[in-house]
Amino acid sequence: MAERPAVGIHDLSAATAHHVLTHETLAASNGADVAKYHRGIGLRAMSVPAPDEDIVTMAAAAAAPVVARHGTDRIRTIVFATESSVDQAKAAGIHVHSLLGLPSATRVVELKQACYGGTAGLQFAIGLVHRDPSQQVLVIASDVSKYALGEPGEATQGAAAVAMLVGADPALVRVEDPSGMYTADVMDFWRPNYRTTALVDGHESISAYLQALEGSWKDYTERGGRTLDEFGAFCYHQPFPRMADKAHRHLLNYCGRDVDDALVAGAVGRTTAYNAEIGNSYTASMYLGLAALLDTADDLTGRTVGFLSYGSGSVAEFFAGTVVPGYRAHTRPDQHRAAIDRRQEIDYATYRELHEHAFPVDGGDYPAPAVTTGPYRLAGLSGHKRVYEPR
Ligand code: COA
Repeated sequence: MAERPAVGIHDLSAATAHHVLTHETLAASNGADVAKYHRGIGLRAMSVPAPDEDIVTMAAAAAAPVVARHGTDRIRTIVFATESSVDQAKAAGIHVHSLLGLPSATRVVELKQACYGGTAGLQFAIGLVHRDPSQQVLVIASDVSKYALGEPGEATQGAAAVAMLVGADPALVRVEDPSGMYTADVMDFWRPNYRTTALVDGHESISAYLQALEGSWKDYTERGGRTLDEFGAFCYHQPFPRMADKAHRHLLNYCGRDVDDALVAGAVGRTTAYNAEIGNSYTASMYLGLAALLDTADDLTGRTVGFLSYGSGSVAEFFAGTVVPGYRAHTRPDQHRAAIDRRQEIDYATYRELHEHAFPVDGGDYPAPAVTTGPYRLAGLSGHKRVYEPR
């Protein structure tokens, strides 16, 4: 049998929203001690979309540089993972396909399983590339995290998209077999169809996450996965950045290891930089962690990264990826830093207005105010249809 090619992440590009609310501003308005946000949950600020932004505009902004760099010839599939979808029927990826001018000979689909959906997309893409290594798959994870005002989850909101080009002989990360899987029917976080904000039992969801980490790690090792010492870094799903720290401590304990602050910081420290400034981006969060790691860590060539993807409800997957020689020539640190730095800071009153913003639902014509400086915008709602345009 012919040897299977290495398959994995060939390019990775992230985008976020136009506005930013700092946790200093949030704490000053709700009376919380800002140290709870900065140290307790590890957040400095959260991205807040403008009225003319959503998961589609962020996704297109993330994917455009990938398409500009690699062209569209080999992309036969777009997988769009989200849990803040804009339509119950149409895949958001079709809007992205249209905005980016991809060929009609493309398969487009949307995936959902809370924050795990991006990893499902990545793994399905790897399967497609193994079937035909000449093809590439554009995997996009894009979400706006939104909780009701005053709820504990409010401080962990955020918004971002990550676009990954998955292909053979990847330039960034080779994704390995096996994967460790874990599914449990829990109601730790969910959003009924009639709600715009998520419901969460935050402390229950931390326990469910740690349980799922154990389960997926156990399955991973039973299937012949690597040992703990073979990993150079760990990229955990980050509903808030301190969760990476909690998760790694839990894994070390579970494996009977001494837990030492420096060891934990060395394993996860470089993965939290972007999430700390952007907030929770659900499906995109673990891949923003990977972006931060690749962009900011010392040379990772040949190092193995452990990934723990968790989606409430719940599904988790643990897998490994090895960083490819020469990867540094393909990362995008300047683009990512610029996306974070260019955000416009808002005060608390403006944040509340944006939080409550919704288009009327009577089918009329409702143009969106032109606010975003991103490359694509939501022009408005007309006849119940979302209208997108390049800016
Ligand atoms: N200074 C420093 N740290 C402080 C602090 C202060 N003044 N006040 C509180 N903290 C620490 C707490 O000790 C705690 O840390 P610990 O978990 O290491 O003990 C942390 O800050 C959070 O405090 P807590 O009282 O637990 O906050 P909370 O009740 O507001 O809940 C979440 C925090 C994360 C559960 C809540 O934001 C939430 O529900 N988030 C959304 C869901 C989510 O993120 N789920 C995770 C799995 S997907």
